[in-house]
Amino acid sequence: MARAPTLLLLLLFFFFLHALAVLGEVALFSHIKSTLSRGESLSNNGSTLTLQSDCDLVLRNANNMIVWNSGSVDNGVDCIFWVGKYGVAIVSDVDGSPLWTTGSPSPRGNYAIILRPDGTLRMYGPSIWTFLGSSSSNGSSTDTDASVSDQLTVASAPSIDSSGHIMYSSEEFIDRPSVGVLLKRGNFSLVVETACKIHIRHNHDLEAAASCTEGEVKGSAAPTCKSQLTTDGQLAAYKRIFPDDGGLDDVWLRTWGSDYTIVTKESVAALIDRGATGELLIYPTKQTLAA
Ligand SMILES: *[C@@H]1O[C@H](CO)[C@@H](O)[C@H](O)[C@H]1NC(C)=O
Ligand SMILES: *[C@@H]1O[C@H](CO)[C@@H](O)[C@H](O)[C@H]1NC(C)=O
Ligand SMILES: *[C@@H]1O[C@H](CO)[C@@H](O)[C@H](O)[C@H]1NC(C)=O
Repeated sequence: MARAPTLLLLLLFFFFLHALAVLGEVALFSHIKSTLSRGESLSNNGSTLTLQSDCDLVLRNANNMIVWNSGSVDNGVDCIFWVGKYGVAIVSDVDGSPLWTTGSPSPRGNYAIILRPDGTLRMYGPSIWTFLGSSSSNGSSTDTDASVSDQLTVASAPSIDSSGHIMYSSEEFIDRPSVGVLLKRGNFSLVVETACKIHIRHNHDLEAAASCTEGEVKGSAAPTCKSQLTTDGQLAAYKRIFPDDGGLDDVWLRTWGSDYTIVTKESVAALIDRGATGELLIYPTKQTLAA
């Protein structure tokens, strides 16, 4: 008779685990003051980072095995986990008194903590480059070449996070032919336009642009674009100018670039929805916190 309740408990237990794992956030950002509260998790590709109700910060791999924990156990307080503007990650009480910190203090700037798809927890920053885009809600876009589509799917681009808003640097170019959405977050998208330039667009404008040019573009060959975030922190886009349909060695024209690099092992770009504006930040690696 005891079997059925046990099974039910087990099912509830796994349901709860699953519920924790689908929270969806992969990163915390200092400049928008994002935090993990008790019981909340970051999750990416099966790995989770949970701030437990006892204030211990616990990293689990895809098999749900604990691979690291902070040891900041304190049952008596209400705690949060966050990263500050000097590059220190902190478990603190809600008033900011630290229970535990990690990371060497660094120049003031924008920092991010990312649970990467490979299950490592890494701090990035300070950011080296920021790019803002706002919504033009009355449709008076300054771009006349705004034909966009969703051809580029996140699944086919290995250097883009499953969360859809973080891009990891890679020696590989991101897909091609690629006119479409690179990153998405809330109401904003980072898109490659038909002139192979990169913009931040409000989804409202995106839909308007895509529908108004449908039909007009028919017949005219879509250009081939490629884009890349290099390990030294530069986001760039290129347009193929020769040949038009492959065969000989391709000739590429660089059409857009963030034009700022830094010596670092790896970099990431994150698209953030700030309500009225969309913001893209590029960060170098600071340090690995847990793996
Ligand atoms: C996701 O996790 C699996 C194993 O859990 C691993 O083989 C794969 O490489 C991971 N994906 C990325 C992008 O790191
Ligand atoms: C419409 O666009 C114009 C030009 O960009 C801008 O000056 C105006 O504020 C916009 N109006 C609204 C309601 O957003
Ligand atoms: C997205 O924009 C719509 C209006 O266009 C607004 O109602 C909604 O709250 C916005 N969502 C977010 C997450 O900002």
